[in-house]
Formats: sequence, structure tokens, C-alpha cells
Amino acid sequence: MFRIHGTFDASMFDPSGTSQAAQQDETIGQAAFDLHQDEIPLEQQQEASAGPSYGVASGDVEHRSVSYQPDMNLVVISNRGAPFDPNKPQTGGLAAALQPVVEHSGAVWMFSSENRGDGTERPLPLVRAGEGHVVELDLPAAHHRGYYRDYSNSTLWPILHSLSDRMSRAEEGYDSYRQMNKFIARAAFDLRDRDAFWVHDYHLLPLGSDLHNLGIERPTGFFLHTPWPTPDMIERVPNHRELMKSMLEYDLLGFQTNRDLNNFLACLRTYFELESKDGVVTTERGQTRLQKFPIGIDPKQFAEHLAAELSPAEQEKISSLLQNFEGAKFAIGVDRLDYTKGIDKRVEAFDQLLAAEPGSISLLQIAPSSRADVDEYQKYKEDVENAINHVNAEHGTEEWRPIHYTNDPFSQAALARLYRAAHVGVVTPLRDGMNLVAKEYVAAQDPKDPGVLVLSKFAGAAEDFNRDEALLVDPNHPEEIADAISKAAKMPLEERVRRFRSMMDKIGSYTIHDWSADYLRELDKSRITVPADQFHHLGLGWTNEAQMPLYQNYAAALTAYNEIDPADAALKEAACADVKSAFVALAAPLKHTQDRLWDLPAPTASRGDHRGQELGGRED
Ligand code: G6P
Repeated sequence: MFRIHGTFDASMFDPSGTSQAAQQDETIGQAAFDLHQDEIPLEQQQEASAGPSYGVASGDVEHRSVSYQPDMNLVVISNRGAPFDPNKPQTGGLAAALQPVVEHSGAVWMFSSENRGDGTERPLPLVRAGEGHVVELDLPAAHHRGYYRDYSNSTLWPILHSLSDRMSRAEEGYDSYRQMNKFIARAAFDLRDRDAFWVHDYHLLPLGSDLHNLGIERPTGFFLHTPWPTPDMIERVPNHRELMKSMLEYDLLGFQTNRDLNNFLACLRTYFELESKDGVVTTERGQTRLQKFPIGIDPKQFAEHLAAELSPAEQEKISSLLQNFEGAKFAIGVDRLDYTKGIDKRVEAFDQLLAAEPGSISLLQIAPSSRADVDEYQKYKEDVENAINHVNAEHGTEEWRPIHYTNDPFSQAALARLYRAAHVGVVTPLRDGMNLVAKEYVAAQDPKDPGVLVLSKFAGAAEDFNRDEALLVDPNHPEEIADAISKAAKMPLEERVRRFRSMMDKIGSYTIHDWSADYLRELDKSRITVPADQFHHLGLGWTNEAQMPLYQNYAAALTAYNEIDPADAALKEAACADVKSAFVALAAPLKHTQDRLWDLPAPTASRGDHRGQELGGRED
């Protein structure tokens, strides 16, 4: 981390246009800025913003070591956690993504247990998980239904996926949602001395604000695993303004795709007239940086899953499932039983395909039940099952069943084997944050005889995989899905290998470890890193890289001001107004940063240094 101190003092800036004072500002500020630039190693200056940079073209997974900001003691918080057992099934992409991060980074991961509590706060039971720890919280029974079923999954979830017809009980649950976030913040208070907090997903949008309200001033970041919709869609969520405002309490907001990031920026513009500059939004609270971090998988671990031994029971289950397809082609779909996943349209696609090409291909649909206490999910389960029964009755024979369907969950190791055996992977959600099944299906393929991925245009993964790689389809149109499955099933080996290699290069060059390392590197920029023996020299100097863009705006306005001939009073006045507003924008987050300096460790002997006194530094 690099820093500048003694850059300028608010009292030195004379808005009345006395150019001498302004000139002095510029000289000091610009010199300090140049110094800062010189301090940054060249490779870091050239470093692109977070996100994948693809380029390896080998077809093999490239294994690189990734740094997890080793000196950062991280707290990860989410509603759902992972079982940390390769033989147990995981629920959803979030759990799959965070497990390797926690295992390798030494983070503490706090998530909801299966038990409900009475709301009493208890000491946190930390349990070892790889290099990290997990803490399971018994969330209060009194608020759980409102928080999880009503607000998170009946209001937010459908709207985040732009499926407003599925939204119900819009007004219910908000109070419980807020109360639950406050409860989780109070539990996290025990971990306040850790370096940073990384919060995940829509259940916890206001948690950053609750952490700050408790006086936790460590950097807080948030990552949204789902999509973010357009302004007119989010408008349907009661309290959407309050929620979005609370999201701006985070130092860093991460999204899966450019589409989600741009939608969020459009919402900020629409509801708060806030504009971002260089990916930074400045409010009274300070700065929030917004970026895309497309989530990935650990392909190395996936390869290990393929080799791992299964429990006898699971081995038996897999073998009997695969027997159904011996010698015949089959496609695989693996989804939580959720209406966003487009399973019903996929089944319709099979109906059409089998009408045109009888007996050509079967489908193995694995759909573990999900959120069964939400009405829409119960209805959806019935719809999917009716549609499957129809296809099987219409196109099946004594010997052959077109669709094999199960609600059983499978371990990652078992899924890896099923993916590898399937000729086509069908991932056709109506909308999805990323969809890791798409990446896992590819990672499990035999490089010499790979299957083909049929992928929804509206899954985040479609921002990573292009038309030359996956067969992209509109998931709302069964006929498009049917055509793509038919094409995939007949695709020549050479084309399959080419597509597979290209996708595999991308998967290998931006793994789940790169994703978390990138995120944490960005979050670390919000950390105060000024040594205790220097902080009292700071004045209004910046203390972290995130504040640089605002400084640059200010410096540019100052330069422009100084270049104008004093005789041109009108121009000079306009430029002075620009300097003033750039200064105001810069001063707020700097002041915020200064307030956070109280968290620094005790100063050392050099604290009495006279330069500190000259600059009016603080003694604390
Ligand atoms: C999605 C969400 C996750 C959630 C998962 C499973 O992937 O983004 O936050 O954990 O679904 O849903 P559940 O309600 O069972 O946790």
C-alpha cells in the first residue's frame, strides 16, 4: 500500500481566486501525486482492473498460485454455508464458491445453522475448516420466516431475476429482514478486530450499514451472486431506496457481470442522481467502489473430484442411473428446483425435439428441492413434474424413458462423473447470476471426447463463453433450445474439442481463487495502512488508493484554473467553481478516512516529531 501525506490543507484553498494560494496547493499536491506514482511498481501501474484476462491457449488447466492477501484476517458472512465434506451435497453456487476460499485463506465464515434460536446472543463457536474457521449462527425463530421466506425469497429473489410475476407478499417480511440483519451484525461484533468483512448475497444487503452502526469501521465489501435488474424492475421492491442507500455503506460492491453492474449504476442515477466516476461513487458516508468480479470454479479440484472415491451408496446410485443411458445419448441438467432455472421450458424443448427426432436423446434432470415453503416453488415443482410426465407418456416406449428425473441431491464428486458421461450439458436459466454448473460441466469433460454446452444467453456465464464456445440460446424459446440440443448431439469431434479447449482456457485462467484474490485486493485498498508514527502528519492527505481518482479530478481542476489568464475574469470564475466542487467531493471521503484513523495502533516514539505539530496532526 502506498501513501501520500501532507498534500494540502483546506484552509490553504482560497476560493475567491487568489491564485497564489491555489498555485501553492497545486505545487504541493501535484508533487505528492507524482511521488505516489513513482512509488508504484510498474507492473502494478499497468495492472488492468479486476476481472479475467484470458489468453492461455492450451486446453490444459493452468495452475497458478494466487495470493489471498495473507496478512488480511477476513470475516466472510452469508446466509447459506457449505458442509465441508466432499461426500455431502452443497446447496447453490454461493456455498460451492466460498468453501475453497475459506479453506485456503484462513477466513472466518459466519453463516446460518439449521437450528433456530431465541434471539439471545451467545459466544461464537468457531470450528476449524481447512485453514479457516466456520461459525454457525442459530438465527432467531421469530424473524426467520419474514427474513428468509417472505422478504429474501418471495420479494427480492424474483425481482432480482426480473420475474416480477413470481413476486408475492411484497409488503411482508421487511421488518424481520432488517431485524435479522441487525442480529447478524451484533453476532459479527465479536469479530470486530479482524481486518475486513466480506458479505454475500441478497439476504444481507443492509448488513454493511448495520456493522457501521455498531461502530465497526473495518473495510466492508459485498458481493451479489444473483443478477441486479433495471430501475423499473427494482422499483417493485418495497423499500428499494432504503436498501440501495444502505448498500452504499459498503466500501466495495461486487457484481457478476457488466450487465448487473450497469443496471445498478442506472438505479443509482435514477433514484439518487448519483454518478460514478472511474468506478467510484462518492456519498456523504465516503466512497463506494463498484466492479464486476465474474465468479469461477476450481478446475483442479474438479479434476480431483473425478478421481475421488464415492461412498458405496452413492456409487450404487450413480451406476444405476447411468445404466439407463448405456449406449445411448443423453443430456444432463442440474439445477435447484427453482423457477428461475427454466426447467419447464427445457422439458418443452425435449417434447419438440423428440417429436421431430424420436428416440434421439434422453435427459437426466437432477433437481434437488429448494425453498419448499415458498408457494411459487411448490407450484413450480408440480408444473415441472406434470410436463415431464407428459413427455414420458408421449415419447417413451416400454424400453426407453426420455426423461429421468430425480430430486435427490448429489455430492460434487458424483456430479462430476455424471457430467462427464453426458453428451450435452443443458444450462438454460431464464436469468442467473453466473451459473457454476455451466463451468463445472465443461471442467468435467474428457478432453479427447468432450460434450457440448447449451447455455442460456441470460446466465452470467454467457458473458464469459461466446458463440464459438457454447451454443447460446434464448431460454424462453423451447424451439431454440431443441435445435441447439440436436446440433450438440450431432456435433463432430473436432468442433467439440475446439469449443471445449477454448472454454477450458477461460475457466483455467480465471478460477475461483483469482476471483476471491481480486476481490480481496480491491477490498484491501479501503484498509487504513498508515503507520502509527506517521499518521499525525497527514492533514487531509489520502491514505489509500481508492481515493486517488477524486484527487486526480481535483488536481486537474486546479491545473485548468491556473492556466487561465487572470484577465479573463469570467473563465477564471467558472474554473474556480470547478476547483471548489472537486475539492468538496474529495474532502468528504478524506474526512471519513481521517475519522477511521482512530482505529490505528498506538503511535511510536517519533510521535513527538515537530512536523506533526506544525501540521496540526492528532495525538490519539
Ligand atoms: C442461490 C443464491 C444463494 C443461495 C442458493 C441456495 O445460489 O444466490 O445465496 O444460498 O441459491 O438457496 P438457499 O435458499 O437454499 O440457500
